[in-house]
Amino acid sequence: MAVSEIFNSVFKVDGKLATVNMVPGKKVYGEQLVREKGTEYRLWDPYRSKLAAAILKGMKSMEIGGGSTVLYLGAATGTTVSHVSDIVGKEGIIYCIEFSERNFRELYMVCESRSNTIPILSDARDYQAYGKEMEAVDILYEDVSARDQAEILLGNAELLKKGGYAYVAIKSQSISTSRDPKEIYKEFLGKLEPVFEILEKIDIMPYDKAHLFVVLKKK
Ligand SMILES: C[S@@+](CC[C@H](N)C(=O)[O-])C[C@H]1O[C@@H](n2cnc3c(N)ncnc32)[C@H](O)[C@@H]1O
Repeated sequence: MAVSEIFNSVFKVDGKLATVNMVPGKKVYGEQLVREKGTEYRLWDPYRSKLAAAILKGMKSMEIGGGSTVLYLGAATGTTVSHVSDIVGKEGIIYCIEFSERNFRELYMVCESRSNTIPILSDARDYQAYGKEMEAVDILYEDVSARDQAEILLGNAELLKKGGYAYVAIKSQSISTSRDPKEIYKEFLGKLEPVFEILEKIDIMPYDKAHLFVVLKKK
């Protein structure tokens, strides 16, 4: 089996994206587990995770690594969170924000076996409330599909360190179904420019449609 580390704690195993399973023997969303030389890897499905899709589509600035602290907005049932948890490892921490009680119940189960994750049942608009319990983070991740997604990001950016990175999956259809997605992305990024430098814009087709994945750096 051919294993190579393409970013800090992100691997290709026989050409497929993978992370080292922090909880050996345990799957999160039916992903495949493979063992090589005493290490268990979890294959990372780009059709289920926009971060995996962005990496496979050539994202260069992968600043999430061992020991990173992450504020994750829109944690859902923990699919991508689980891989980020593998990546940041025992020295890192992920604050997982999710407002759907149904998704949160599943997320909570995933977080129970991963000591570096903190599930928080909250609207990501209430950043001032959960922010009181947190130190400024290295990384902000947003995948919330909401009409006011840009404003939610800008609020939470107060909890991101200066020089910290943000990874954002922008869903044009959540903002408007009638307008041209290109116009929507342009307007969205325009709102961010006072606070963020825009490093990368990645089209994640064919893994996910109607999304633009962007990498930002806080000024
Ligand atoms: C597309 S899913 C996220 C998928 C997840 N990032 C992954 O890759 O595993 C979007 C999630 O954001 C949540 N969400 C949407 N608006 C939110 C808000 N304002 N605050 C917290 N969660 C929100 C939804 O309930 C849903 O679970």
